[in-house]
Amino acid sequence: MPNPQLDANGGLIHLLSTEGLPREVLTHILDTASSFLEVSDRDVKKVPLLRGKSVFNLFFENSTRTRTTFEIAAKRLSADVINLDVGRSSTAKGETLLDTIDNLVAMHADMFVVRHASSGAPYLIAEHLRRARREDVHVVNAGDGRHAHPTQGLLDMYTIRHFKKDFSGLTVAIVGDILHSRVARSDIHALATLGAGEVRAIGPQTLLPTAIGRMGVRVFNDLAEGIRGCDVVIMLRLQNERMNGALLPSAGEYFKCYGLTPEILSLARPDAIVMHPGPMNRGVEIDSGVADGPQAVILSQVTFGIAVRMAVMSILAGN
Ligand code: CP
Repeated sequence: MPNPQLDANGGLIHLLSTEGLPREVLTHILDTASSFLEVSDRDVKKVPLLRGKSVFNLFFENSTRTRTTFEIAAKRLSADVINLDVGRSSTAKGETLLDTIDNLVAMHADMFVVRHASSGAPYLIAEHLRRARREDVHVVNAGDGRHAHPTQGLLDMYTIRHFKKDFSGLTVAIVGDILHSRVARSDIHALATLGAGEVRAIGPQTLLPTAIGRMGVRVFNDLAEGIRGCDVVIMLRLQNERMNGALLPSAGEYFKCYGLTPEILSLARPDAIVMHPGPMNRGVEIDSGVADGPQAVILSQVTFGIAVRMAVMSILAGN
C-alpha cells in the first residue's frame, strides 16, 4: 500500500507520522530546520517562503507548545495564519470534520495543522483531499489520539542530534506512560529509522503496550535498571485524559517508582540529557531538581520546535 504522506516521486505531501518515512526525508527535515534556526537568531526573523499561503490551525484538543510554535513558524515563513476557534466553530452545531474541511478549502486553505483526540483524524482528512483531487492542500498531524505526533518526534530527533551529534551508539530511554503516548510512538519510529543504538521503554507493565517488544525496543519495568548507562532520557507524563479506569495506585506511588530524581539520573551517563515533550507534571514523573537542572534540555526542545515546524511547512509547500 502506498505511503499517503509521499507522492509518486517520494516527495512529502503530508506529514502524518514518522512511521514509514525514509531516512533521507527525516534527515532533510532536520537539515532544513538547522538553516531556519539561524533565521530565528536574526533581528528580522521572517522569510517569504509561504507568502500568500493560508495555514489553518485546527486544534480539537488543548495545546500550549504545538499550537503556538506552529503559529510562530507559519508567521516566520510569512504565511497567513488562521486559528479556528473550535469551541465556537460550527463543529459544536454538529458539522462533521470533513464538512468543516470542505468549507475551509473553499476559503482557499493551503495547509491544515490538525490536532484531534481521535487517532487517524489527519489521515481521514488527507484521504478526503486525495479523493477530491486536492493534493495541493497539505495536512500536518499535530497529534492524533495515542497514535502519532510527528513534529514532536522530529523536534526530539533534532534535539538529540544537536546535543549528541550522531544517533549510532546512543542508548535512549523513554520513561513513563508509553501506552497512551503518541510522542513515544513517533520517537521510537524515528529513532529506529535514524539508527539509534538502543531504545529502552521503561514503565509499569500497565502503561506499556502489549506488543511494545515488536517495535524493536528493550523493555524494563525497573527505572534504575533501565536508566543505567543511558545517553538520553525522555520522560513522559501520565496521560490521564486517555486512561480508562485506574491503571496506577496513585500519583505519589508512581513518583516513588518512576519519578526521575537527581539520584536516579546519576545512574545514566554523566553527560546524559533529559528531555520532556511537555506539559510536565512536577513531582509526578519528574523532580524539579532534574527539570530545572543542568542536564535538562526541555526548553531547548521548545525552541527547536519552531525551526522544525518551519522546515516541515516549507518542504510541504514545495520549497
Ligand atoms: N508537546 C506537546 O504536544 O505539548 P502541547 O500539548 O502543549 O502542544
